[in-house]
Amino acid sequence: MARPKVDSRGMASSMPDMPDSRNWFAPTPDALRRAFAASRRDGSWLVWRQRRLLNFASNDYLGLAVCKGVRRAAAEAILTHGLGSGASRLVSGDDLAFHHLERALAEWKGYEDCLLVGSGMLANIGLLSCLADRHCRIYADRLNHASLLDGARLSGARLRRYAHRDLHMLAKQLAHDPPGRRIIVSDGVFSMDGDCADIRGLIRLAEQYDALLLIDDAHGIGTLPDPRGLTAMQRQAGHPRLIEVGTFGKAFGGYGAFILGTHALIEGLRQRLRTMIYSTALPPALADAMIEALRRVRKGVRTRHLQRNIARFRALAHDLPLAPSSTAIQPLMVGDNERALRIASKLRASGFYVPAIRPPTVPSGTARLRITLSALHTPAQIEALAARLKIILQA
Ligand SMILES: Cc1ncc(COP(=O)(O)O)c(C=O)c1O
Repeated sequence: MARPKVDSRGMASSMPDMPDSRNWFAPTPDALRRAFAASRRDGSWLVWRQRRLLNFASNDYLGLAVCKGVRRAAAEAILTHGLGSGASRLVSGDDLAFHHLERALAEWKGYEDCLLVGSGMLANIGLLSCLADRHCRIYADRLNHASLLDGARLSGARLRRYAHRDLHMLAKQLAHDPPGRRIIVSDGVFSMDGDCADIRGLIRLAEQYDALLLIDDAHGIGTLPDPRGLTAMQRQAGHPRLIEVGTFGKAFGGYGAFILGTHALIEGLRQRLRTMIYSTALPPALADAMIEALRRVRKGVRTRHLQRNIARFRALAHDLPLAPSSTAIQPLMVGDNERALRIASKLRASGFYVPAIRPPTVPSGTARLRITLSALHTPAQIEALAARLKIILQA
């Protein structure tokens, strides 16, 4: 029997006319290539390739990732109790700190109950694949975060997407479909656009068509004028049809996520949420740190700083092609992928780190610079960014 040819690593090489399974991925065009940018963060600065750049690219909106009190809480908990939880919460990884944090979040956000999950991605994928199946219909805003889309796909539910924030189109879809189990799904503050869902309008439709409403407010909690987020701003938090997801990776400066809803919903998730049941629990020290972070978010001092920074930037950059956003996410619309990369590179050369966001993260033809503001930015830093943007865009 003929022996297969092998390469220097001992792997079988394919015949010239056979497809080679090792060349799995087609090369990504330069204008769409993503790259890691290993860096160290230092307050509102980023140290990247030995250069100190002003960081306008972080979701650490309140600066809590570098807050001394939060770091001390994490360090003390690690020194006292160790690092990892060692198992899923349903085996031996549960910890009192998780229960304290869940109770505090439910009370603060105005929901009956809360469940911690490993990350926002795990929360959304797990939640939708747990709640929905092929007998269910999911209605999703076109600009929802990828985790909501992936969860909907994994669930096997029939998926309908409506144009961004277009409640007319959503109402038509709901009216057209036969009655049955339905979930409407939307970001709260949209992650790449910075605009906000109409929670009241969505609840109205959920009531009219007997649907549940899932709102992922990863970017709204801690950052909006009411730090409890968009559902509180629109006085809908705790509504029995509403399920809310929040994350610790953004305004809380940590890592992980939480789901809020009724007792019945959360108890159902404790029994069935596969991304929690079959996954190692968060490090307990992280829960201790997030209890400390929550104390600071509740005070609202950092959120008020952030709000002032947003108003300052909007006023200074009013003549730039900014998207209509009043949140900490201030996209500067460019359109062309290569131009977005060029502007990002010129900004880096001038000492500012702002990422160029391109398809498939955003729809084709809508490349942008995603400027994110933080409570840590000083007025002078914000003025410097606005001035540099004007010079670069006029060139
Ligand atoms: C709206 C939204 N939901 C969920 C996630 C995922 O959360 P995590 O980073 O905790 O996985 C993100 C972003 O990272 C997001 O922007």
